Amino acid sequence: MRDYYIAGNWKMHKTRAEAADLAKALVDGLKGAKHKYLVAPSFTALETVAPIVKGTNIRLGAQNCAQEEQGAHTGEVSVLQLKDLGVQTIILGHSERRHVYGESDALINKKVKLALKHGFEVILCIGETLDEREAGAAEAVCEAQTVLGLAGITAADMANIVIAYEPVWAIGTGKTASPEDAEAIHAFTRKVLTNLYGKDVAEKTIIQYGGSVKPENAAQLMAKPNIDGALVGGAALKAETFVPICKFD
Ligand code: 13P
Repeated sequence: MRDYYIAGNWKMHKTRAEAADLAKALVDGLKGAKHKYLVAPSFTALETVAPIVKGTNIRLGAQNCAQEEQGAHTGEVSVLQLKDLGVQTIILGHSERRHVYGESDALINKKVKLALKHGFEVILCIGETLDEREAGAAEAVCEAQTVLGLAGITAADMANIVIAYEPVWAIGTGKTASPEDAEAIHAFTRKVLTNLYGKDVAEKTIIQYGGSVKPENAAQLMAKPNIDGALVGGAALKAETFVPICKFD
């Protein structure tokens, strides 16, 4: 009942020319592929990538947005500007935003609400640090980030929310969570969603896994019942690695 959804987060990589090359290679490589796909280039490459993926099976995503529609917010990018570029989805609460740029759950929640108000799909990222995992707090951290990130979000809004579980210790480190460890948090998160919205909504919500997903481990992760896709960083930067992840089955 849930389709797989595989997203590439290009982070702070690629010039416009490089982004165009990758987007074209992905459009070719994913022609006829059967799941749901997304690329999230840097803001600077969105206008370049938009016409390349338009009308294909690849959605256009942004990696963040400002918490206000417009105004005196030097260095920020507004939902109105993203909509103007054809962006359909916004990744929010990525661990790099939380831990490097100090974004709080309250700020992330404000952005989630604003993005939904403007008709975007949101990928809300959650995930514990290594210290939190070692202290036995992985579930508590993921629960808090889910509950606070979704504060004020209705069951109807949940049709446009995707959760991405990205354990911080697995991001860019080459250390993937084992399929069993990832599945445990995914199943737990679905329980949290059940408590918030009921079983129907929870069963429909896509929960992606992120953290060193590669062609070699994608199928094993995706085989788990509560892992519904992937949010891919490093391996999303080349068609040779992203396409096989997208075509894991
Ligand atoms: P890596 O796939 O490079 O570990 O990054 C994961 C990630 O942060 C995607 O948002």
